[in-house]
Amino acid sequence: MAVATVTEQPGSKHNVQAARQAYYDKISKFNMTPLWEVLKDLVTPEPKSKLVPTVWKFSDVKRLMLEAGDVISAEEAERRVLVLENPGQPGKSRITNSLFAGVQLIMPGEIADVHRHVSSAIRFVLEGEGAYTAVEGEKTMMKHGDFIITANWAPHDHGNPGKQPVMWLDVLDMPTVNHFETSFGEHYDEKMQKTNHADGDSFDRYASGVLPDGAPAHLNRSPVINYPYAKMRPILQRLKDTGDVDKRHGARVRYANPINGGPVLPTMGAYLSLLPKGFKGEPYRSTDGTIFAVAEGQGATIVDGKPIEWSVNDVFVVPPWKRYSHNVTSGDAVLFSISDRPAQEALGIWREGN
Ligand SMILES: [Fe+2]
Repeated sequence: MAVATVTEQPGSKHNVQAARQAYYDKISKFNMTPLWEVLKDLVTPEPKSKLVPTVWKFSDVKRLMLEAGDVISAEEAERRVLVLENPGQPGKSRITNSLFAGVQLIMPGEIADVHRHVSSAIRFVLEGEGAYTAVEGEKTMMKHGDFIITANWAPHDHGNPGKQPVMWLDVLDMPTVNHFETSFGEHYDEKMQKTNHADGDSFDRYASGVLPDGAPAHLNRSPVINYPYAKMRPILQRLKDTGDVDKRHGARVRYANPINGGPVLPTMGAYLSLLPKGFKGEPYRSTDGTIFAVAEGQGATIVDGKPIEWSVNDVFVVPPWKRYSHNVTSGDAVLFSISDRPAQEALGIWREGN
């Protein structure tokens, strides 16, 4: 090979570069490129993320979201959502490399038509009451702090027969699905799906210590549609009261699939954590870039030495392998968090550290 005969002689550096470039140009015509020019960026000693720790203050989100209510109807928009886009990946409609996040608004009297898609979705309800999400035949009313899942290919629609605007955090695995180029989606002829399961049916049916006889022994997503905040919050209090408070994560529960104890979805896993008054968390980092939403309280999370201050309904993101610690500044705080950890664990690539 011509390149192997090139030697480093004094004054020949230019010639070496020119010979290499000529070689690269030649091989590019055969759809090849030299690994040695890019190897150090492909195999890094530790994760290198372009993502930026970022907070979206709810006061801004709400004001701007309500303006969207003036300029486009839910029907015209199909889904009236403002994307929470990571400034380190502009134009990519993603908050981390694997996850999409947005805030959705539904005004009184509106509906968002039934559709389904390969991407799985979760909703974490921020503000307002009186709206519902209908998933797989269950119509569940949405309240602050509720965690609602819409699994891969599950038909879903939203509506607001109430009197208040309702806003929630949407997180979807769209970037993951699109990474694999496996996106399918479809609309239905009807605007709303027929629902014959009462609100709370799937929770009572599957998450009460029993399972319907004949329930599948294996299911890689939870059959529970809504994990209501009203049922989760007292569990956090129990953990706190008995001193079961992790020094990094606080009194934390993992939303579980009652069939197998695994994550609620194969691509996304979520937690709810109570950080007691005065909590000063020890540092933690993990390879799953994590989205946090504040259900209660006020505090600051130090990410890479810089504080992100937060209060109720703010959303913030910590990129992969950035060291962070939570601090509570007023009362007890409750943080919801979600990431692609189950996907990384399934692939055997997830790591954590301090
Ligand atoms: Fe959807």
